[in-house]
Formats: sequence, structure tokens, C-alpha cells
Amino acid sequence: MPTSNLQTNADAADSPARGDVRIDAREPKLHGPVVRHIAEFPAAGRSRDEAVVRLQNIGLKFTSYHDSHPSLKRALLNLVLRRSAPATNKTFWALQGIDLTIRQGERVALVGTNGAGKSTLLKVIARIYEPTVGRLTTRGRIAPMIEMGAGFHPELTGRRNIQLNGALMGMSRAEMTAREPAIWDWTGLAEFADLPLKYYSSGMFQRLAFAIATEVEPEILLVDESLNAGDASFVDKAKRRILDVFDKAKAVIVVSHDLGIVSELCTRTVWLDHGRIVADGPTPEILDRYVRAVTGG
Ligand SMILES: Nc1ncnc2c1ncn2[C@@H]1O[C@H](COP(=O)(O)OP(=O)(O)OP(=O)(O)O)[C@@H](O)[C@H]1O
Ligand SMILES: [Mg+2]
Repeated sequence: MPTSNLQTNADAADSPARGDVRIDAREPKLHGPVVRHIAEFPAAGRSRDEAVVRLQNIGLKFTSYHDSHPSLKRALLNLVLRRSAPATNKTFWALQGIDLTIRQGERVALVGTNGAGKSTLLKVIARIYEPTVGRLTTRGRIAPMIEMGAGFHPELTGRRNIQLNGALMGMSRAEMTAREPAIWDWTGLAEFADLPLKYYSSGMFQRLAFAIATEVEPEILLVDESLNAGDASFVDKAKRRILDVFDKAKAVIVVSHDLGIVSELCTRTVWLDHGRIVADGPTPEILDRYVRAVTGG
């Protein structure tokens, strides 16, 4: 079982966005120890200092372009005056000042309300999105179980998608071909192997994505809500398999609104709000604070 350990001052200085669950080396020691919290969960027998994912001051800005929708009167006026309706563009920081170090052996949950930035953060770690500012360092093969479109192509068959997804994770064609039978076996979807992915139900897609991501022996596994999408037998089977992968993976990062899954699977929880980390620490404590904040309790 993981054990808690004090985070070093050097680490804390590295992590200014951890809110009140950090040790801030710069904080004055006026009223006793300022050590308020602990945010390191080394697994027994593993090198606890080996950072496998490190985000330093990561920020991600989206720009969205909108055509303004003028009233009929304004549209006619524009037509008469031969001027076009102005297009507007809005920029929006989906992530800001994210400092996060995930070490070997950690199982980390990202929680937060809708739009908090959880999926965006996973996509930054998976290198699907390039951050606007900041630095990302990862060590090991990353298997992202994120969404259709991220590593999958709807027009290609399930079988071709296994190859495509494997290639994106750095696996050779021969390696993926060798793993294919086990993938179909686990999903129970062999009869749909030659069906284009766009005809898979969302639960079928989740089964396939999950089987691929866990079959390639990922070193860093990223899971976005996938565990909630399937039917009860899938969720049960997936939990057992994910525990197996957890044992072998260097690190796992799970996004889920199912706090039962978070408590069961993750030792550490990072709470995001409006693109920033508001708390980071042991799962029971952070979930307690999070639940009280969102329910007003
Ligand atoms: N491609 C994009 N272009 C513009 N804005 C985006 C894009 N992707 C996400 N956003 C915005 O970034 C913010 C964070 O979105 P994100 O999907 O990361 O939230 P989330 O925490 O995963 O929410 P949920 O719990 O609903 O899945 C939201 O305001 C969303 O509208
Ligand atoms: Mg999301």
C-alpha cells in the first residue's frame, strides 16, 4: 500500500498552484509549522522520486471564432450597405498555472465540475493538445483512453483501428497483430471486427478502446470517464483489468465523476476548478472537501 511522505520544499517551490495542500518554502513560520499537507504517495518497492509526468506552469488557451448572428433588420442593413457581419473571436484559458508532478506508482484522479478542464488536461498530457505556455515532461508509453477521434478513426473498421491506435502508441504492426486476438477476446466483439467504428455503439467503442489501451501494457494510462460508459458487466470486468494494469503501469490518471470509482481506484486526487488546481492530496480528504464545496454542505 502506498504510504504518505512529506513533500520537499524544493518540490513545493516547484508547485505554486497546489493551493493549501502544499508546503510553501516561502511562507513565513510565524505560528508553528506551516507544513499543512502531504502530497506524495510512493508505492512500496518503487523508486518514489521518479517523476513520470511533470507539468510546469502549464496554460492552454483556446480561441473560438464566432459568426455574429445579426437581427433580420441588421442583416438587411448590412446587405444594403454592402458590409459583412463582423466575425468575433474569443480567447479563453482552459488551463492556467498547472504545476503537477506524478511519480512512479501513483494513481491519480482528476475531479471537478463540468468544464473545469479535466479532459483538456488529460489531452495535454497525451500530447493531443499542445500547451500555450509551460513545460510538459513524460516518461514512458502513454495509452490515452480519451474519446472517439483521439487515436481512432470512425470510417475504419475495428481491426484497422487497433493497428492505428497501436501505431500512435509506438507499437509495431507485428506487435499489434499478435495482440489482436487477446483484444477481441476481452471485448467479446470479434464478430464486429470488420465493421467501421462509426457503427459501434458508445459502449462497444469503450470496450474496444479500453481493451487496446490495457493490452499494450501502458506505462502511463490516461482514462477519461470510460469506466462509466459501459454496461454493468463491462464496468466490473474493466475494474478488475484496470487493477491489473495499475500493478504494471508506472502511473495512472483517471477522470471521473463517479466518486466511488475514484475512491476505489485512486490514492491521490487533484481537484480542478476553472482550469486551475485548487487542491491536491490523499483521495479521502480531497473528495470530502470537493463534495462539501459542490453540495454546499
Ligand atoms: N476545443 C475546444 N475549443 C474551445 N473550448 C474548448 C475546447 N475544448 C474544451 N473547451 C472548453 O474548455 C473548458 C474545459 O473543458 P473540459 O472538456 O476540459 O472540461 P471537463 O472538466 O472535462 O468537463 P466535463 O466534466 O464536463 O467533462 C470548457 O469551458 C470547454 O468549453
Ligand atoms: Mg471531460
